Amino acid sequence: MDELSHAARMAADHLSAVPEQPVWRPVPADDRAWLTGQPLPDTGAALEDLLRAICDHVLPYPMGNGHPRFFGWVNSPPSPAGVLVAPLAAAMNPSCAGGEHAGALLERTAVRWLAELAGFPHRPGAGLLTSGASMATVVALATARQRVPGVRVDGLYGERPLTTYVSAEGHSCLRKAAELLGLGGRYIRTVPVDHAFRMDVPALRRMIGDDLHAGLRPLLVAASAGTVNTGAVDPLADIAEVAREHDLWFHVDGAYGALGVLDERLRPAYAGMDLADSLVLDPHKWLGVPVDAGCVLFRDPAGPRDAFSLVPPYLRDEGAGELGWFSEYGPEQTRPFRALRVWATIAHLGRDGVTRLVERTRDRAAELAAMVAAAGDFELAAPAVTSVVAFRYLPLRVNGGIPAVVQRRGRAFLTGTLLGGQETLRACVLHPGTTRDDLAVLLDEIRAAAEELAG
Ligand SMILES: Cc1ncc(COP(=O)(O)O)c(C=O)c1O
Repeated sequence: MDELSHAARMAADHLSAVPEQPVWRPVPADDRAWLTGQPLPDTGAALEDLLRAICDHVLPYPMGNGHPRFFGWVNSPPSPAGVLVAPLAAAMNPSCAGGEHAGALLERTAVRWLAELAGFPHRPGAGLLTSGASMATVVALATARQRVPGVRVDGLYGERPLTTYVSAEGHSCLRKAAELLGLGGRYIRTVPVDHAFRMDVPALRRMIGDDLHAGLRPLLVAASAGTVNTGAVDPLADIAEVAREHDLWFHVDGAYGALGVLDERLRPAYAGMDLADSLVLDPHKWLGVPVDAGCVLFRDPAGPRDAFSLVPPYLRDEGAGELGWFSEYGPEQTRPFRALRVWATIAHLGRDGVTRLVERTRDRAAELAAMVAAAGDFELAAPAVTSVVAFRYLPLRVNGGIPAVVQRRGRAFLTGTLLGGQETLRACVLHPGTTRDDLAVLLDEIRAAAEELAG
């Protein structure tokens, strides 16, 4: 199929052109109309025509995360190996629900490798790939909820209210999952953070004590190994200890930051991550696997299987073996071949390459933090531990408006957040090609944006 080679060439051209293009640009009205308003065609178009349309209307308007000066949210450039194999996964197009085929079998290796990279103990079956951390968190918290006897039959009716503990800096997906699972927003406790935006463990203890005193049942504590706002790593060993004392499920959200453990200098901060009952990490973040690729790991594979296994007669598989199908461990039945992208990315980099990627981006973030601290017109808003830098431009009042202006100018891309209620800029460094000059451009663009806002 010639069109396939043409598409591959277009992908290669796109990737090599990215650094020369604006990081991001707004979509002009006519292209927006094409993207959002096309009528359903009565007759089909030739594949070459589709490629031409993609050239004209799609490739010119990327989100920006392939560019070395993209610092927004937590979105990495795609790994070359991941891009290379994506069409092959599509060409095979299996459902990785389970069964005896390469797609489902390779997921066993991909999950085990992720566990090994994160230093998490792995038993066969104790993990699966998901669409991202949000879905992985639903799987993890549903498994935690399964500790309530009879929950699959009786639901939570009649059960004492169950309490969930999440720090003020915990990702919104934790609250979303807890609400979705019927744990009730009212029973989600927001644990305060310390000066470095890590969960305040004495406060956690006090809140658990108060809930026990009130006759509630503490169920789970969700800690973070790399928060989205500042990249902070909670005191995981201390939280694990509290969880053990009170028989709580210990969940760790390492969606963004779990792989920071590969950097020897950071490793002490991760002590206790390996004690989690469930650990979420996103290969589509720091590792750069093309979207989508999330992962949830468990200490015990029996937990998610008890929570999710439901095999209708048409899906019985005598040959499934002891572990059964992946679809017995989560909500998805038909599952895409995510493992090929994850496997290829790790196989191409090796443990050393992944470690270098983490170290390099983390060093760049430290460099940015030092530049911010040294500049008279910026202030650091939090210690830069992993590869996120939270900071503010002075005067403070302009910070809320800065990201949109920087984005529109097209030379760099960053996003903002609220930290302790204050408008804050955050730059997340995930691109292995980001240079010191790129960091200088970012700071200059912020200054220029502030000037524009003032004018
Ligand atoms: C710390 C953290 N947890 C969870 C998530 C949600 O991940 P996903 O977007 O893959 O669902 C994010 C996303 O940025 C994150 O940074």
